[in-house]
Amino acid sequence: MASAAREQWSSRTGFVLAAVGSAVGLGNMWRFSYLAAENGGAAFVIFYVGVTLVVGLPVLLAELVVGRGAQQSPIRALQHFGGPRWKLLGGVFVAAGFLILSYYGVIAGWTVRYGLIVLTEGFGAHAADRFGEIATGWDAFGFHVLFMAVTIGIVAGGVKRGIERTAMLLMPALFVIVAGLAVYATTLHGASAGYAYYLSADVSKLLHWSVLKDAAGQAFFSLSLGMGAMLTFASYLGRDQHLPNESLIIVGADVAIAFLAGLVVFPLIFALGLEARVEASTVGALFITLPQAFAEMGGVGRVVGFAFFAALVVGALTSAISLLEVVVASAIDGLGWSRRRAALVSGTAITLLGTPSAWSTDVLGVVDQIANNLFLLGGGLALSVFVGWFMRDPVAEARAGAHGVPWFFLWRWLLRFAVPIFLIFVLWFAVPETWHAIRGLFAS
Ligand code: TRP
Repeated sequence: MASAAREQWSSRTGFVLAAVGSAVGLGNMWRFSYLAAENGGAAFVIFYVGVTLVVGLPVLLAELVVGRGAQQSPIRALQHFGGPRWKLLGGVFVAAGFLILSYYGVIAGWTVRYGLIVLTEGFGAHAADRFGEIATGWDAFGFHVLFMAVTIGIVAGGVKRGIERTAMLLMPALFVIVAGLAVYATTLHGASAGYAYYLSADVSKLLHWSVLKDAAGQAFFSLSLGMGAMLTFASYLGRDQHLPNESLIIVGADVAIAFLAGLVVFPLIFALGLEARVEASTVGALFITLPQAFAEMGGVGRVVGFAFFAALVVGALTSAISLLEVVVASAIDGLGWSRRRAALVSGTAITLLGTPSAWSTDVLGVVDQIANNLFLLGGGLALSVFVGWFMRDPVAEARAGAHGVPWFFLWRWLLRFAVPIFLIFVLWFAVPETWHAIRGLFAS
C-alpha cells in the first residue's frame, strides 16, 4: 500500500501543467518539425493527429488510471493490478527512462548552448557549420552535464516544491513565447511558401506505411507514453480527479504546441530559402538550419533566436524532469532510498550513459530509434493489453471522479482491439528498421 508520506500535487493546475510540461518538449519542436519535413508536410500532420486521438489518447488515459489507482511508481503499480509477473513491464519502463533521458539530455544541452550563443555573441555567417562542434565531443558532454545537474536538482526538490513549482513557473512562459513566435512568423516575407509546404499534403506520401510508423512513434514520444511517465505523475493524484478531462487537456495542449511550432519553423526556413538543407534531413536539421536563419535576420534574429531557444530549453527541462521522475520514484518505492539520493545516483548514471550520444550524432539517432520504435511502441502495446485484458475493471477505476462519461466503453474497446492491432502493425515495420539501423551503426 502507498505509504502515508507519499506526496501529492498541491492543485489540479499543478498536475495538469506538470503533465503538459512532460508532453511538450523537444519532441514538439525539434522532432515534430523534422519528421514533418521528411514525411511530406501535412500528410504527416494528418496521420499524427489521427494516431494521437485514436491510439495516444486511450493509452494516456490507461496510464493515468493505473498510476492514480495504485498510488505507486510503475513497477509496483503494475504489480498492484496484475501480480508479480507484470513487474517486468515496469522494469522495462524504468530502463526506457534511462535510455531516453541519456540522449534527451544531450540534445537539451545543445539547446542550452545555442541559447547562450545567441544571447552573448549572436550567430555568425557560418552558423550552420558550427553544429558539429556544438553537438559532439566535450562541448556537447559539458552542456549535457549542466542540463542534467539542473534536472537532478529540481527532481530532488520533490513533487510539489520541485516538479510542480517549475511547471507552474515555466509552462505559461513557454506558451506565450511559442504563440508570439508564430505570430511574428506571419510577418516574414516569403513565409507563405513555408505555410504551403507545411499545410498542404504531399498525397504521394499519404499511404506510405513509413509515414504511419513515424506518426505513431511521434505520437507516443510527444505524449510521453509507453514508459510510465504519465503513470508516475498520476500516482500523485487524488481519487477525485476527472481523468478523462485531464487526458483531453494534455492531448490538446501537446498537439497545439506541436502545430504552433510548425507555424514557427517552416515560415522561418522558407522565408530565408533554407529548405534545401532540411531536405537532407538528419537529427540535426533544425539545429543547422535555424541558427543560419537567425544569423541572416540580423539584430531581430538575436531576439527571435533567443526566444526560440529559451522555449526549447524550457520544454526540454520539464520533459527531462518527468523522465527522471520515473526512475527516481521507482528507486524511492522499490529500494527505500531518499528522494535526494535516488535523484543524484540515478541522474548521474543516466548522465554517464549519455556519453556515446554526446560523441556521435549517429549513435544518438540510433538510440532515439531504439527508444521509440522498440521501447515506447512496445511498452504502449503491453500496457494497452494489460489494461484492456488483464486489469480487473479498469472502467470502475477510471470512473472514480468522472461519473457519466459516455466514452469509457469505447475506451476499453480501443485498448482491447484497435490499439494493440495498430501497434503490432506498426512494430512489424519498426522492428526490422531499427535492427537495420543498429547494424548500420556497427558496420560504419
Ligand atoms: N514528451 C517529451 C517531448 O516531446 C519527451 C518525453 C518526456 C518523453 N517524458 C517522456 C518521451 C516519456 C517518452 C516517454 O519532448
